[in-house]
Amino acid sequence: MAIINSKLIGIGSYVPDFVLTNDMLEQLVDTNDEWIVKRTGIRERHIAKGMRTWELGFKAAERALQNAGITADKLDMIIVTTCSPDFYSPIEASVIQEKLGAKCAAMDLNTCCSGFVYASDVADSFIKCGKAKTVLVISAETLSRVTDYTDRGTCVLLGDGAGAVVYAATEETDKGILSSYTSSDGSGAEYLYMEALPLEEDPLKADRSYDQSKRFLKMAGAPVVRFTAWAVPQAIDEALHRAGLEASDIDWVVPHQANLRILDVIAKKYNLPMEKIYVNLDRFGNTSSASIPLALDEMRQKGMLHEGQTIVCTGFGGGLTFGAFVIKL
Ligand code: COA
Repeated sequence: MAIINSKLIGIGSYVPDFVLTNDMLEQLVDTNDEWIVKRTGIRERHIAKGMRTWELGFKAAERALQNAGITADKLDMIIVTTCSPDFYSPIEASVIQEKLGAKCAAMDLNTCCSGFVYASDVADSFIKCGKAKTVLVISAETLSRVTDYTDRGTCVLLGDGAGAVVYAATEETDKGILSSYTSSDGSGAEYLYMEALPLEEDPLKADRSYDQSKRFLKMAGAPVVRFTAWAVPQAIDEALHRAGLEASDIDWVVPHQANLRILDVIAKKYNLPMEKIYVNLDRFGNTSSASIPLALDEMRQKGMLHEGQTIVCTGFGGGLTFGAFVIKL
């Protein structure tokens, strides 16, 4: 039987117009541009005003399909990753499916900031086992809706945006997703969390005037940095090992854009120049699962992606989940 791989055939992205700069954040919380840039590398982020997560995802998806040169009726599956969904039901993927005019399987997947890595693995698995030929992965987030703009420890980090990619089955053995690795360390769950539904001692007698601030993202920054220090190298090592490759084979690392200091650690560990680690968090902040496809689309638009390149994508975040995959263009 012929080997089937999942080839990246289209990339798209969308960010809302409104830009929240570090100077503007100084008006909201006790912070300053110098602190934010030095500790995180972030200078500005985009914020969705009056737009839902699915709308961002839909726009990114349209662009990815256009870039792939296919219409939505060719899709066998749509996977949407988000930790900032509009609804529990309908799922984001079904909403976007309808707007695109696709007739196929649709699912949402939430592994927080590593969502795109997990969804790419799921898409690849469906393609490799022959159950799907063409899969659209959309990662869309409106983190501004779960951000506490009185908490300077988190609000300076987060932004909104969406990215999407199309994977298609190919018999070219040297193209597509070569390997994936996904994992989780639930012992660190408390360091990064958002409550979805309030715990009620007696739902029949509960006061349903829910305090909205309970939904806000809460994070203990230092333990998350410590987690990334071992989890990200573990994920990259495993993905490279499974692909039979070395760090020297990598053309680009496209990491989740959380903090410039974390990306520095990756560069040092693998002896890679920072020029091989794609960074755009200075302009978008941390957009959770959207950050990797958003970065990929920016690279595409800048003409930085070429056939034959080997790219490692790595994601990490709430859960605490982490993972990486190797893809050959
Ligand atoms: N502006 C100014 N001062 C701030 C601040 C801000 N926005 N946020 C925190 N501080 C202060 C703290 O209150 C603290 O003050 P104190 O020493 O008087 O108590 C000081 O800066 C140091 O705080 P600390 O939390 O130790 O800073 P840090 O060096 O760990 O940097 C983060 C904070 C959030 C930038 C860092 O922990 C981080 O990047 N964590 C990982 C974030 C991440 O990647 N999350 C998502 C994973 S998907």
